[in-house]
Amino acid sequence: MANITLNVNGKTHTVDVEPSTPLLYILRNDLDVHGPRFGCGLGQCGACTVIIKGETVRSCVTPVSSVRGAEITTLEGLSTNGVLHPVQQAWIDEQVPQCGFCQNGQIMTAKVLLDKNPNPTDAEIRQGMASTLCRCMTYYRIQAAIKRAAKVTA
Ligand code: FES
Ligand code: FES
Repeated sequence: MANITLNVNGKTHTVDVEPSTPLLYILRNDLDVHGPRFGCGLGQCGACTVIIKGETVRSCVTPVSSVRGAEITTLEGLSTNGVLHPVQQAWIDEQVPQCGFCQNGQIMTAKVLLDKNPNPTDAEIRQGMASTLCRCMTYYRIQAAIKRAAKVTA
């Protein structure tokens, strides 16, 4: 066990944990941050995605010790003073989710995609979102929501 300090959504937490514990477990079980979901647990679906240094990170396969001191943003950290991020608002406006289980990963991945490419083409959206899986096949609504958000953020 070791004391590890994490910065999650602008707040600092110190947890006493086994250093190899996946970040996802610490977020959900120790810090009550439930935006990231446990899907495959193998780094393959994207449900557990968080953002670190402007990149998507699959927290189910990320040892907590590897992100000590890093600024970690989860779905809960996207809004500002109660105002939803444009991607979140677009998700509501387009009524994207079906069961909702994958949608943390979809929104976080879309946010990073638009940060890097504010006005993506359909092909660029498909490519950027390709590894974030949705069993409910909400892909067309995801694409529509990203294009809607791009009009606000571009
Ligand atoms: S739960 Fe992490 S990638 Fe599937
Ligand atoms: S909305 Fe059900 S898995 Fe994506």
